[in-house]
Amino acid sequence: MLGASTLALGLLLPSTTLAASLIASHYTGKLFTLNFDASAKTLSVTGQATGCGTTPGWLELYPADKTLYCFDESWSNGGYIASYSVASDGKLSMTAQMKTSGNSVHGLLYGGSNGKGFAATVEYSPSTLTTYKMPLTSGGQTLSLQKFTLAAKGPNSRQDVAHPHEARLDPSGKFMLVPDLGADIVRVFSIDASSGKLTSCGQGQAAAGDGPRHAVFLSTKNNATYPDVMYTVNELGNSVSAWTMSYSSSCIALTKTQTISTFAPGKKGGAGTKAAELRIAGNFLYAANRADQTFGSKQDSIAIYTIDPATGKIAWMEAANAHAYYPRTFQINKAGDLVAVGGQTSSNVAILTRDATTGKLGDVVATLVVATPGRAGEEDGLSAVIWNE
Ligand SMILES: *[C@@H]1O[C@H](CO)[C@@H](O)[C@H](O)[C@H]1NC(C)=O
Repeated sequence: MLGASTLALGLLLPSTTLAASLIASHYTGKLFTLNFDASAKTLSVTGQATGCGTTPGWLELYPADKTLYCFDESWSNGGYIASYSVASDGKLSMTAQMKTSGNSVHGLLYGGSNGKGFAATVEYSPSTLTTYKMPLTSGGQTLSLQKFTLAAKGPNSRQDVAHPHEARLDPSGKFMLVPDLGADIVRVFSIDASSGKLTSCGQGQAAAGDGPRHAVFLSTKNNATYPDVMYTVNELGNSVSAWTMSYSSSCIALTKTQTISTFAPGKKGGAGTKAAELRIAGNFLYAANRADQTFGSKQDSIAIYTIDPATGKIAWMEAANAHAYYPRTFQINKAGDLVAVGGQTSSNVAILTRDATTGKLGDVVATLVVATPGRAGEEDGLSAVIWNE
């Protein structure tokens, strides 16, 4: 029979994060391992790595393989994709590095026999979707490159050319969705798993000037492999949109059903505000605002929406303090009780409490400035933070 204390501990542990490791990337070329000690309420840097070029911008962790991929956003002279093994203490050792044409703002693995046969990246200014065959090797070559063009410029001055911002794999692994900030569309590609070929099969139309950046998915039918709702965060429109997703064997049909501001009803962002990251947890959707300073000088906000689980319909809940300036990145931990927010310009990682029942974000448990702070409006500072779990 289990003793009472064993039982209590067993019940306590899964829902209480005592210590955790995180990985952050910084636009000065470094990756950092951070240790979060919940009882001491401290964050500390416990490791560093390089190899992801000058401008590491996106991190993708494969926990089952203890492998991390990093994508370099470098704007000139090409960039890199690098892979790292992640030790039990979170320390990173580079295992491979491949040169790219640069400016990749997002990337991940897809296809093959195990979902990791190929890598796809999107390049913001060259307006491209690029694929590579895995594994990464120093002499690795581009497998395919698709360049997107605009029929006409969009209403926002940043919509001069196509700007694919994410290569988001759908949960079935059969389709790639590419929000295009320049084109105001979400491009859909079917995946040939054996060859890695991405074939354009359709697109969802955003409103003019929305500038969709990132997407997340929801199933209202308890069918996690084939979701029926997608949400996008719209960087230029400072809003989030809900979409219906309808699967056929050859494509996903997308229809936008709702768009809500990332600011409280009646409020507007300033000239430099740009919505950045989008996360979903339980029946709540979260979107980060960059440079809105809703909570005071250099204190930006995270917009929270409730989700009707039966329909996927969203409604404004409230703005929470991001405790960061220019929060380009944030992620909710698996337990759902903590959020790691990365302020790009403040270059800090803030660990905030989250109430999984109410969806509310609360106090700062720990915060740490990592490497050199950025300058307002510039492409420097902290680029990404993720939980290593
Ligand atoms: C999940 O959705 C797909 C696509 O709509 C459908 O073919 C499948 O039967 C669904 N599975 C379940 C368990 O409902």
